[in-house]
Amino acid sequence: ASARIPMVAGNWKMNFDHLEATAFVQQFARNLKSGRFDFSKCEVALFPAFTALRSVQVLVDADNLRIRYGAQTVSVTSQGAFTGDVSADMLARLGCSYVIVGHSERRKYHPEDDANIVDQVRAVLAAGMQPILCVGESLEERRKGIELDFAVGQVHDVTRDLSDEEAERLIIAYEPVWAIGTGMVATPQSAQDAAEAFREHLASTFDDHVAQMVRVLYGGSVTSKNAVELISEPDVDGFLIGGAALHVDELTRICMLT
Ligand code: G3P
Repeated sequence: ASARIPMVAGNWKMNFDHLEATAFVQQFARNLKSGRFDFSKCEVALFPAFTALRSVQVLVDADNLRIRYGAQTVSVTSQGAFTGDVSADMLARLGCSYVIVGHSERRKYHPEDDANIVDQVRAVLAAGMQPILCVGESLEERRKGIELDFAVGQVHDVTRDLSDEEAERLIIAYEPVWAIGTGMVATPQSAQDAAEAFREHLASTFDDHVAQMVRVLYGGSVTSKNAVELISEPDVDGFLIGGAALHVDELTRICMLT
């Protein structure tokens, strides 16, 4: 058994306003309570849009919920004339524990390249939160059979200048682009292969302790039907969930199975 605590993370993307987010969290908390969900055995985190973070914080604080939350991206600058940006300190002050960094949708629709993602990781760490670094190949790399090299390369490019202390606080989400929102889930074996490759890479770059501590989540068409076999893999430590995280009963089921 590993010392890593599994994690179920729900990435809401651009869904749910603050009222819908509030209703979801209330029902989710009731579900987990009635299912006697054990938060000491599995971390649960939600990633609302910026506009709903404060509502989630108020609920979590008022009811002492053990549900954690975070943002879907962050500015690389700390303050000033950057219209439209939100800083890591602002997120930390809202009680965020994590920030998703480098999601493929951010890489695709926004100018988020490796240099920017490195800076986001640093900003998140400096503010005392944990980055969930998303990596994963597209169908093109998979067809060429270079998916592992590609995904490990993404991890390498973003993490190479981190210290051991910084790297230890990373969470990596393996999200093959072809599996996101498509219903085409990676096989448990390929999720395991990627997670193992990341761990080997971390062990070669950092202290072995870092490789053992970093959690690797799988993301891409996760549902309650495929969660059990994915989580059974030794190096898969949980999930980053999109579509299924928009349905409170389905997300509850996945938590109960993890
Ligand atoms: O970040 C999670 C996401 O990209 C996976 O989405 O809808 O395939 O679970 P989905």
